[in-house]
Amino acid sequence: MSKNHTHDDARRELRHALGRYTTGVAIVTAPGADGRPVGMTINSFSSVSLAPALVSWCIDRDAASYETFVNTGKFCITVLAENQAELALRFATRGADKFRDIESDSEGVPAIAGGCAWFKCDLYRSFDLGDHTMLIGEIREYARHSPAPLVFSDGSFQRLQTDYEHPGLRSARAA
Ligand SMILES: Cc1cc2nc3c(=O)[nH]c(=O)nc-3n(C[C@H](O)[C@H](O)[C@H](O)COP(=O)(O)O)c2cc1C
Repeated sequence: MSKNHTHDDARRELRHALGRYTTGVAIVTAPGADGRPVGMTINSFSSVSLAPALVSWCIDRDAASYETFVNTGKFCITVLAENQAELALRFATRGADKFRDIESDSEGVPAIAGGCAWFKCDLYRSFDLGDHTMLIGEIREYARHSPAPLVFSDGSFQRLQTDYEHPGLRSARAA
């Protein structure tokens, strides 16, 4: 087995193990400096702080849209609904015509319609970490909608199984 083969196998193994952590799926968008918007599918989205209201996500430093996301200073994260897997695939495809049917809001930020929630953020901090950069956004505006979320687990898009809910958290939520 060649050295590279071993390295690729180790990466794949690590990705498979990390893929056991089930997440939602989001699309992050930003207006490009040249007027051409950028966007990509992410699952590294996470809440960070309530006061101030902060969220984070991580971008691969090899992404075509990397410079735009790091330099534009604002972005919008849309949490995708269960019927938006095709959109998630499109925004995960480098070179695709990602914005062919997507309009921008009044500030020029492309808005993905039909999601579960969106968060418009100003860039608060960024940290270079290994082969990714973590972007922290401060939420300026947000909205929450009713569709069920798209789920990403073990490397594939799935639907949330809604016939099970542990009762323990219900009382905690009511508090
Ligand atoms: C479910 C899913 C989650 C992803 N999460 C991330 C992520 O958190 N960060 C990232 O940099 N790329 C992530 N990607 C890969 C990017 O969506 C993909 O590389 C995209 O084409 C990058 O945009 P670009 O056209 O600017 O290169 C993810 C892809 C999928 C399918």
